[in-house]
Amino acid sequence: MPNHAVKIIDNVYWVGVNDHETRFFEGLWALPDGMSYNAYIVRGRNKTALIELVKDSFTEEFCRRVEEVVPLADIDYIVHNHLEPDHSGAASAIYPRCPRAVILATAKGKDFIAQFYGESERVRAVGEGDEIDLGGRTLRFLSYPWLHWPDSMFTYLVEDKVLFPCDAFGGFGAVDRALFDDEWDLEAYWPESRRYLGTIVASYLKHVVKAIDNWVKGGMGINVLCPSHGPVYRANPMAIISRYQEWALNERGRKVVMVVGSMWGNTHKMGEVVRRRLVERGLEVCYFDAATAEPGQVMGAMLNAGGIVFGVPTYDACIYPRSEYFLTLFRTKKKTGYPVAVFTQNSWKVDIFPKVEAYLRDLKAEIIGPVVTGHGRPTAEVTRELELLANNLASRITNPCACPVE
Ligand code: FEO
Repeated sequence: MPNHAVKIIDNVYWVGVNDHETRFFEGLWALPDGMSYNAYIVRGRNKTALIELVKDSFTEEFCRRVEEVVPLADIDYIVHNHLEPDHSGAASAIYPRCPRAVILATAKGKDFIAQFYGESERVRAVGEGDEIDLGGRTLRFLSYPWLHWPDSMFTYLVEDKVLFPCDAFGGFGAVDRALFDDEWDLEAYWPESRRYLGTIVASYLKHVVKAIDNWVKGGMGINVLCPSHGPVYRANPMAIISRYQEWALNERGRKVVMVVGSMWGNTHKMGEVVRRRLVERGLEVCYFDAATAEPGQVMGAMLNAGGIVFGVPTYDACIYPRSEYFLTLFRTKKKTGYPVAVFTQNSWKVDIFPKVEAYLRDLKAEIIGPVVTGHGRPTAEVTRELELLANNLASRITNPCACPVE
C-alpha cells in the first residue's frame, strides 16, 4: 500500500502521491480511479537527486514522503523532466526547503521554471547526453521533446538501467492499491493507459513512435521503467512500451467509432441504422452518445479505429453543442486522415453540414458519402441512404481500393 515511500531497488525510492480529489485531469478527462503523480529519489554515495515534484495541493504529503527517505535539506538535485504543474506545482514550496539543491531541466524547461515559479538563479539547463555523478550512480539526461510538452526529457540511471520518462508510458489511475506491474491485473488496466495516451499525448503520437524507435536503436536497455503516472514496471517494462507503440502507430483496424448526439431520439434512430449495417459488414462498432459520453473514452477508442461516424443534430440553427464539443476535441487532438461519415438531423431545414465540414477539412478527413440528412424519424428513403453510407464506410475500411457507391 504505497501511502509511504517505497523502495524500488537499492537507493531508488518512489515518493509520489495519489490524487482522489481531482475529478477531471486537465479539467477535461474523468478520473474514476484517481491519478498518481509519481516522484522518485535516487541516492548515490555522495549526492541525492529528487526526480519530479507533485501537484501543489499535495505539497505537505509529498514533503512527508520524501523525508521518510532523506531530509529535504539534504537534496542535492531536483530534476524536472517536464514542467506541467502536475509534476512541478509544489515547486514554490519545495525549492526553499531544499536550499542546496541545483535544479535541472532542459533549456525550455528552464524557461518554464522562470515563467511559472520565478526561479532562475539555481536552475541549470541540461541537454542530450549530459550526466551528473551522484557517487557510483550516474543520471543521464535524454531529450524527448513533445512527450508531452516541448520541455520534456527522460532521465536514465545508467548503472541500474532505470528509466524515468515522466509522462511517457503513463496511465490514469492511482497506485495506492499497488505500485508495481506484477501486482496489477494489467489486462484490466490497459484501457486506462490507452485512454491516457489517446487524450493527454494524443496530438503527439508521431513523437511517441519516434521516441520508442530512438530508444530501441540506442540500445541502453531498461530493467525498471518508472513513469510519472501509473504503475512502475519492474517485471516487464516492454509490456507497456510495446502497447504504446501499437496504440501510437494508430494503424487503422476494423473498428468504427460513432459519436451521435440527439435531443429527442431521432438522430439515435438514424445512428442505429448505421450501427446495425456496420456490424452486419463485420466491423466492431464503439457507439457513444454525445450527451453522456466521457470524452476520454471516445478519444481512447479512436486509437486504431478504421473510421469515424458523427451523427449531428441541429440546435438553434447551429451544431448541437454536445456534438460540437466532440468535433472540437477531434480537431484539437489532431485526429487526421480518418475516413469520416456524417449524418445530420434538422427539422428547420437549416443545413449545418458546412459547419461540420469545416472541422473535418482542417484534419484532411476523407468524407465518405453520401452525407445524409434526416428531418425527424428516419423515413424509408433516409434509411436507404444511411445503409448506403454505412456500406461505403465499411468498404473503405475493409477494402481501401473499393470505389464508393453514389
Ligand atoms: Fe503529467 Fe504533461 O504532465
